[in-house]
Amino acid sequence: YQKGAQLYEGKAKKVFATDDPEVYIVDYKDDATAFNGLKKGTIVGKGVINNRVTNFMMKQLSEKAGIPTHFIEQLSDRETAVRKVTIVPLEVIIRNVAAGSMAKRYGVEEGTVLKRPVLEFSYKCDALDDPLINDDHIIALGFATEEELATIRDLALRVNAFMKDYLLEAGIKLIDFKLEFGKTTDGRIVLADEISPDTCRFWDAKTNEKLDKDRFRRDLGNVEGAYHEILRRLIGE
Ligand code: C5P
Repeated sequence: YQKGAQLYEGKAKKVFATDDPEVYIVDYKDDATAFNGLKKGTIVGKGVINNRVTNFMMKQLSEKAGIPTHFIEQLSDRETAVRKVTIVPLEVIIRNVAAGSMAKRYGVEEGTVLKRPVLEFSYKCDALDDPLINDDHIIALGFATEEELATIRDLALRVNAFMKDYLLEAGIKLIDFKLEFGKTTDGRIVLADEISPDTCRFWDAKTNEKLDKDRFRRDLGNVEGAYHEILRRLIGE
């Protein structure tokens, strides 16, 4: 693919057009932000790891769980070709264990195992700090149709069920994570964006040591080490 104009620069990635109108190139950066950009930093090598981990998980999800994704092929250490989609402006959060904002909101101890997975939606909008949003709001505001929302819900729960078991085999507890979905030009809903230590809470299955971006958010040290450990456990590098 011939890399074309830059279409978008986010906090952790850039997106480029290509000579194929149905294909974009995603380019992963080492830049890290937290608390909606209030905290800024660099995690050396993060872009390379997130690119590999995301592509690995998307491939597993597609091949072993039948989840449709935007993934086409990895082009380099930091670059991946993906199917062109329009992102549904929702952060789809799935939780197995209370942590982060949910533990805080309901005053429960971080690490409390939930009796069933919790699906949560935020409206993806930096200016508004990604406010929580419910199904009625989403449909009434036209961010997704009722049918699209049902598809998103079903896919998100299937992604969780597959990933939870898969990661546990690698000694990793999937605490919670965030997904984004996109709509292809022919109207199909597919999994998009990334699945990485930036967007998931991963705890060591034995010690509950945090192996994700919370090490950066909470200044826990050894941030790079945690990202490498996830890569090593999943892909063995
Ligand atoms: O902060 P909170 O506890 O709501 O985050 C839940 C999960 O969603 C975490 O795994 C976090 O990494 C992810 N998340 C994200 N991007 C956001 C908000 C949350 O990847 N903007």
